[in-house]
Amino acid sequence: MTAKILDGAALAQELRAEFKLRAEALAAQGARPGLAVILVGEDPASQVYVRNKVNACAQAGFHSEKIVLPADATAEALLAKIAALNADPAIHGILVQLPLHKHIDADAVLEAISPEKDVDGFHAENIGALTQGNPRFIPCTPHGVMKLLEKGEVSLQGKEAVIIGRSNIVGKPMALLLLAAGATVTICHSKTADLGFHTRRADILVAAIGKPRFVSGDMIKPGAVVIDVGINRVPEGQPDAGKLCGDVDFASAKEVASAITPVPGGVGPMTIAMLLANTLLAAERVAARQG
Ligand code: GUN
Repeated sequence: MTAKILDGAALAQELRAEFKLRAEALAAQGARPGLAVILVGEDPASQVYVRNKVNACAQAGFHSEKIVLPADATAEALLAKIAALNADPAIHGILVQLPLHKHIDADAVLEAISPEKDVDGFHAENIGALTQGNPRFIPCTPHGVMKLLEKGEVSLQGKEAVIIGRSNIVGKPMALLLLAAGATVTICHSKTADLGFHTRRADILVAAIGKPRFVSGDMIKPGAVVIDVGINRVPEGQPDAGKLCGDVDFASAKEVASAITPVPGGVGPMTIAMLLANTLLAAERVAARQG
């Protein structure tokens, strides 16, 4: 079997064209959507992600601001910046690129973002709303995965979904969304005993662990749908060293799965598209309130 490709790049492009039209409609009312992205330090991967987010805003006709603080910036400086953006009517969404340096309390930073502008959906209030089934903003990566599953007409009700990874950014919200869609959900992680036992039971397998090509074909149930959230570099000494790869060994997995997301071109572009979706939603809510 060779799996169907779930093409995130194509779906993201489709969605972004639609978002552009909605942004133009808002701009015509004097309410152009605006996103502020804050980067602390010079982590090269974070720099790339932030640049991609800002470029996506420009292409969709959104206003955006990139704020770069030095690696040794204090928590107070970061919180002061967030307070100013919370009060700025041109900004509808605020994103602080994670991970933050250990000297800054990331939870306190995320709590400082106005829940109405929390387009990542990481504020405790928004996580609570998601858990209760009334999300205000759905975290971008798992939201993008759900859109890809929907587009691929993957039925979820009554299915076994297994997620590898328990992060606040992907694993936990992914579990909540799959649960809400009627799947039976298992979250595996680095301490899980006999990971393969769980993964081989999965009708839907989501890999979000940050280990290059970790999930091989023999860990996958024949006919499963495989979602690869990883963005890694192929380690030295392996074929294609230095290139981008996912957490799934695509070559062996595609022979077993019925559908699979590629890396690049799968979940990554969907994450950015959903960030635009959340920013647009935030701006449309403000515009609706202002009549
Ligand atoms: N770092 C990796 N993924 C994300 C994300 O979705 N949002 C933020 N803010 N930081 C990240």
